[in-house]
Amino acid sequence: MGFTILGTGSALPKRRVSNDELSEFLDTSDEWIFTRTGIKSRHVCTTESLDDLAVAASEQALQTSGVDASQLDLIVCSTTTGDHLVPAEACAVAERLGATCPAFDVSAACAGFVFALDVAEGYIARGRARRVLIVAAEQMTRALDWTDRATCVLFGDGAGAAVIEAGGENPLAVELSTSPDAETLRVPGLAGSSPYKTAQDRESVLSMNGRRVFKFGVNAICDMVHKLASDASIAVEDIDHFVFHQANERILSQAVKRLGVPDDCVVRTLRETGNISSACIPFALDRLARTNALNAGDTIALVGFGAGLDVGGYLLRWK
Ligand code: ACO
Repeated sequence: MGFTILGTGSALPKRRVSNDELSEFLDTSDEWIFTRTGIKSRHVCTTESLDDLAVAASEQALQTSGVDASQLDLIVCSTTTGDHLVPAEACAVAERLGATCPAFDVSAACAGFVFALDVAEGYIARGRARRVLIVAAEQMTRALDWTDRATCVLFGDGAGAAVIEAGGENPLAVELSTSPDAETLRVPGLAGSSPYKTAQDRESVLSMNGRRVFKFGVNAICDMVHKLASDASIAVEDIDHFVFHQANERILSQAVKRLGVPDDCVVRTLRETGNISSACIPFALDRLARTNALNAGDTIALVGFGAGLDVGGYLLRWK
């Protein structure tokens, strides 16, 4: 049993922070950040909680889909930066939407939305769900060391969501992979205050090897697009839209060059939002849908990659 995407939604916090504003307290500049990353600004939570963003994106996706929360059979949320470790972010979303279906989170870092979509597809394939809300919401600004100019300039906060329904020809192809590596990109968890703990815990802030992520990202996108096209028995040139994880403009432009696809088929949102981790893909998909860039029958390749090192790809046909 395949699925159809009924609708999408997205949300950003109100406060926009420009590169120039960051240079007021960091030894950096708009010129450095923009030329190395393609980022001009990011939106950051001030009064909003992550629950607020996740609920706003979900409500929009439900409204676009013409689905009421009471009709949902499952809510899967992708996040690594939830307002609470317990309960799952998805449970808070369910409560605020007034849904009564099962709800849980998936953690696969920046590839999380694609992994969550695969989980949702599995529920539909097993006949356990007909309508599923998948929401990715991230407050990356709470995981950053704001004195580290090499990382804090790259990220922002945001959410994206999609409602899928049983029936339809999706997926045309799907592929998930993990190249186990717990160091390249990492945010340590709670330190706690156990009187028995003698080892020193690492501070709970994001650290990464930027150059390794860069190479990994370009290869992950290119290998995944070729795999998806080959599995669906179509040519890469026959894919109408590419929705890749938005980590860095230079990763996107190198991938475009290597794949030989037209530049304007690759959606870009990171100039305005920075890297919003697993929310990048549904946010960009929603942007495409809202700008009427998607036509019925169009093919869309989603590729997410990130800590893990996880990579997830879906080849979809728009309704
Ligand atoms: N402003 C000014 N200077 C800076 C900044 C900054 N914000 N950040 C680093 N620098 C300096 C460094 O201190 C260094 O100075 P030095 O030569 O005096 O030591 C110099 O710039 C070069 O630093 P590098 O880290 O080598 O810079 P690089 O060219 O590799 O660019 C970047 C860093 C942008 C992170 C790059 O490695 C990259 O794009 N990596 C991809 C990773 C990525 O985008 N991650 C996002 C999250 S991961 C994910 O989503 C999967």
